[in-house]
Amino acid sequence: GAAELGPYRHYMQKEIFEQPRAIADTLEGVEGIVPELFDQQANHAPGANAARVFAQVDSVLILACGTSYYSGCTAKYWIESIAKIPCQVEVASEYRYRDSVPNPNTLVVTITQSGETADTLAALRHAQSLGMKHTLTICNVATSAMVRECSLAYVTRAGVEIGVASTKAFTTQLAGLFLLTLALAQAKGRLSSEDEARHIKAMRHLPAALQAVLALEPQVIAWAEDFAKKENALFLGRGLHYPIAMEGALKLKEITYIHAEAYAAGELKHGPLALVTSEMPVVTVAPNDSLLEKLKSNLHEVRARGGVLYVLADADTRIDSGEGLHVIRMPEHYGELSPLLHVVPLQLLAYHTALARGTDVDKPRNLAKSVTVE
Ligand code: G6P
Repeated sequence: GAAELGPYRHYMQKEIFEQPRAIADTLEGVEGIVPELFDQQANHAPGANAARVFAQVDSVLILACGTSYYSGCTAKYWIESIAKIPCQVEVASEYRYRDSVPNPNTLVVTITQSGETADTLAALRHAQSLGMKHTLTICNVATSAMVRECSLAYVTRAGVEIGVASTKAFTTQLAGLFLLTLALAQAKGRLSSEDEARHIKAMRHLPAALQAVLALEPQVIAWAEDFAKKENALFLGRGLHYPIAMEGALKLKEITYIHAEAYAAGELKHGPLALVTSEMPVVTVAPNDSLLEKLKSNLHEVRARGGVLYVLADADTRIDSGEGLHVIRMPEHYGELSPLLHVVPLQLLAYHTALARGTDVDKPRNLAKSVTVE
């Protein structure tokens, strides 16, 4: 009801602005990396504790749907670069129905806001039926079927999410997945106490960093005025921010009905460049300087076709707005945790574009908050 919405017009807007609180709650009590963080499962089998499981596993298989799948895609980059464990991510509805090669030493990780998504539950049960017994969920509902059925759990504390387009659940999942990455790295002897302290400090600063990003809203509103008039948009990202580009495109299509696609930036020339015209805005999530030269060549290619670039740049990048180039600079450079911050302007972009188009932000047509039947 209106009371719960407080000063906000929509639940999605409220949930976007709740993210500093949601992250702070999710990280409450986390003073350091201990496997017990993932033992939040009341009735797991005796001995199925996180310390033993993390020491034993040699790979990770992430299964999820929708926005939760994109948080998994982001985690893959962390897990392979920080914990140095091979990690696969698969859409749950694909995994459950295909022949795959089971590895009993894999940690099967499901990610789900609701804990009730039919395909994700079925994918978990499929993995278990193939002999994979090390299961962990990153889930926002402690009493859900998913938490009951996995041996290990990290329960995010986003609070109830009402908007169909997931926002605070996504960033809290990322926080849980980053902790998982660190716990795995530690179990494998790949996390020095200095790095542990540095990462914890960066995580503790996230609520303040998110607050600063939310303050970019007026600049995002200016972008949204342009986007509201378009029927197509392209999102580009590289590395850790490729999944963020995918999530940005998903948010836009879900609530504005603008057709949006995401590509790994290096793939621009292998297809989507053919679509670029003045009617096709190109959003680029460009957080670091080392990729800036490549971005400049993308920029050239897009400009040559009359396309307009919207760049989410890092705090310290040397790129300025100009003809056909709109830049929003992030308040600070954030290293490995930068996806949690870069997604926020993309959430706001979808939200304000939907407002300008007059669509039903919290209840987009044809979509459900939780898909509990196949
Ligand atoms: C639906 C929702 C999405 C969500 C997806 C997975 O499609 O509209 O926002 O990402 O389900 O839901 P889950 O609860 O498993 O994260």
